[in-house]
Amino acid sequence: MDLYEYQAKELFAAHGVPVTKGIVVTTVEDATAAATEIGTAVMVKSQVKIGGRGKAGGVKFAKDVASATEHAGNILGLDIKGHITKKLLITEASDIAEEYYVSFLLDRSNRTFLAMATKDGGMEIEQLAEERPEALAKIPVDAIRGVDREKAAEIADAGRFPAEVRDQVIDILVSLWEVFVAEDTTLVEVNPLVKTPEGQVIALDGKVSLDENAEFRHPDHAAFADTDAQNPLEARAKAKGLNYVKLEGQVGIIGNGAGLVMSTLDVVAYAGEKHGNVKPANFLDIGGGASAEVMANGLEIILSDDEVKSVFVNVFGGITACDAVANGIVQALQILGDAATKPLVVRLDGNNVVEGRQILADAAHPLVTLVETMDDAADKAAELANSGV
Ligand SMILES: Nc1ncnc2c1ncn2[C@@H]1O[C@H](COP(=O)(O)OP(=O)(O)OP(=O)(O)O)[C@@H](O)[C@H]1O
Ligand SMILES: [Mg+2]
Repeated sequence: MDLYEYQAKELFAAHGVPVTKGIVVTTVEDATAAATEIGTAVMVKSQVKIGGRGKAGGVKFAKDVASATEHAGNILGLDIKGHITKKLLITEASDIAEEYYVSFLLDRSNRTFLAMATKDGGMEIEQLAEERPEALAKIPVDAIRGVDREKAAEIADAGRFPAEVRDQVIDILVSLWEVFVAEDTTLVEVNPLVKTPEGQVIALDGKVSLDENAEFRHPDHAAFADTDAQNPLEARAKAKGLNYVKLEGQVGIIGNGAGLVMSTLDVVAYAGEKHGNVKPANFLDIGGGASAEVMANGLEIILSDDEVKSVFVNVFGGITACDAVANGIVQALQILGDAATKPLVVRLDGNNVVEGRQILADAAHPLVTLVETMDDAADKAAELANSGV
């Protein structure tokens, strides 16, 4: 989960990374009050989870309260690459002598953590990496050793930070690594980290991505969840513990295993080309132990998507064999009763496939069509979706 800048900075502050005082607001009146309370020149900053806010006009300097009010009026509601600004961060404006860049991230391709740092921050880091790759230091970080002061010094020196800020940058790197580890993140980034004319180093921007796999260790992170930005079906699915992503399409998809579900999306999209260009309506992986309850929960979410016209259940029986899955489908349809309204195409294969198919055949539910292969099932589901039952 990506955090807003103001949330990232809350974590920074909690771990000792210097940030400027800020207040989050959602209305122009509150922006005026915040600027008054801060009492100095402020920055009015759009809080959206997308880069390039400054260039899009979402970050403005306000020398006084009146200009903060005016900027707040312009930036609230501003569309930045499809993200509508609903919150503003009103924060002390700092004088800037130099702009730097530092980050820690999970480097999946090299199976390690990576520190990136440069004294030449401020501009978009992707652009720097392309135009002057030698200016951006990339230092692998060992997961066991982590970043102590010695390692932080290595990173600061590789990023060619000037001597007068070296100690402060080292402190900040150690604290940022603490954010990275203690909060279970996959990314912490500061662009820009600045030096003020007085020589103080502060984080003026912050980006943090939390690792959702570690959510259970951080009950306090639940407060960061962005409920109003979330699709309501996805929010309900999440509450039921389902791995569901809403897409724009007409064929609901349920499968077990992320890989199988991904390829199911592909075959349905392909089959859809012959049937009025219908597309998969969602990603839903019900995982290994597909109990009747999980199946019922999944079906309930998919059937409540108005766009969905048919459902393709694609299951490969492994640890949970096909007969158990077939029983799950039958019981799920019983649980749902009249709420089950759309045709289901079921393809079962794998362990105990013969028994599984027999169970579905015996149940003879009027909404269920059993198809043997994945391609034929995708074709059938697309055809049913297109006939617009
Ligand atoms: N508190 C502040 N005081 C003074 N200048 C600031 C402050 N915050 C931001 N700025 C200036 O505005 C520029 C853009 O701000 P920021 O880095 O937060 O947004 P961005 O980089 O455009 O957006 P994103 O991080 O989404 O790409 C900074 O590089 C800095 O020059
Ligand atoms: Mg930035």
